[in-house]
Amino acid sequence: MSFTFRHMLGTEALSRDEITFLLNQSRAFQGIQKQPLKKLATLRGKSVVLAFFETSTRTRISFGTAAARLGADTMNLQAESSSTQKGESLMDTVRTLEAMKPDVIVIRHAASGAPHFVADRLGIPVINAGDGVHEHPSQGLLDALTISDRLGRLDGLDVTIVGDIRHSRVARSNIHVLTKFGCRITLSGPAMWLPPELAQIAPSIRLQPRLEDALDRAHVVMVLRVQTERLQEPALPADEYIRLYQMTPARLGLARPEAVLMHPGPMIRGLEIDPAVADSPQSCVLEQVTNGVAVRMALLYLLTGGAPGSGATG
Ligand code: CP
Repeated sequence: MSFTFRHMLGTEALSRDEITFLLNQSRAFQGIQKQPLKKLATLRGKSVVLAFFETSTRTRISFGTAAARLGADTMNLQAESSSTQKGESLMDTVRTLEAMKPDVIVIRHAASGAPHFVADRLGIPVINAGDGVHEHPSQGLLDALTISDRLGRLDGLDVTIVGDIRHSRVARSNIHVLTKFGCRITLSGPAMWLPPELAQIAPSIRLQPRLEDALDRAHVVMVLRVQTERLQEPALPADEYIRLYQMTPARLGLARPEAVLMHPGPMIRGLEIDPAVADSPQSCVLEQVTNGVAVRMALLYLLTGGAPGSGATG
């Protein structure tokens, strides 16, 4: 199939075939991460804007690494040291960046829909690197690639996602990817963090506040970051969250023996995850990071006009 997208704003609109295509393109770039010389000239002469209006370690550095390994230049905006601090609007900021003639803009913003707003108004491709509580499409794709690598398939898996589902763009992007492969998704966490509308996305999604009942038969256990500021007395003190939802070796033991443990990062060890689980052989947290570079190389390559199938050889 040919790649017809102008932007990458979310996984909701992607078909199963399109996701499969993107994962196959990413696989072509996985091999490059293992080479002693990792740099291609595929996007030589192209420029990638990294416009991060919200903090990031993995996504920002991963997109920057992906651009560098394709031979592209990067233009970095970090909101805390930019003129957004002087009151410049989002649109004036991104139009200023566009005037420097980049080929693609990667944007992270705390407001859900900000990348869509920008995409409607700029003349270059836009990649959503995480918008509010909406989507984080490259994370959903790298998670699918990691699951597929570890388990040899995506089809028909039992996937348990644990934590603050309500505020998780990672959960949403994963749900939109995995349900297209017939995965059965169980969302577990405090009832106030389990939005019933998410269960409407597909009949294979269920909400299960009791974590022990959510882990049975899981092939994939995905633990989400908990924002400590959301853990407050009296609604949900941190010690109560830890007691009910921390992923411990005993809880992971309720899943299938071959289950993979995932976390998008940043991890708060001792809060949502026991360090023994984070560092266990079942954990693929660092594989997720490695695969993120390959997925982002594929996205940058395809959205800047690369010819499908030739990316990893250029
Ligand atoms: N997974 C993820 O989005 O991490 P960062 O916030 O560090 O980019």
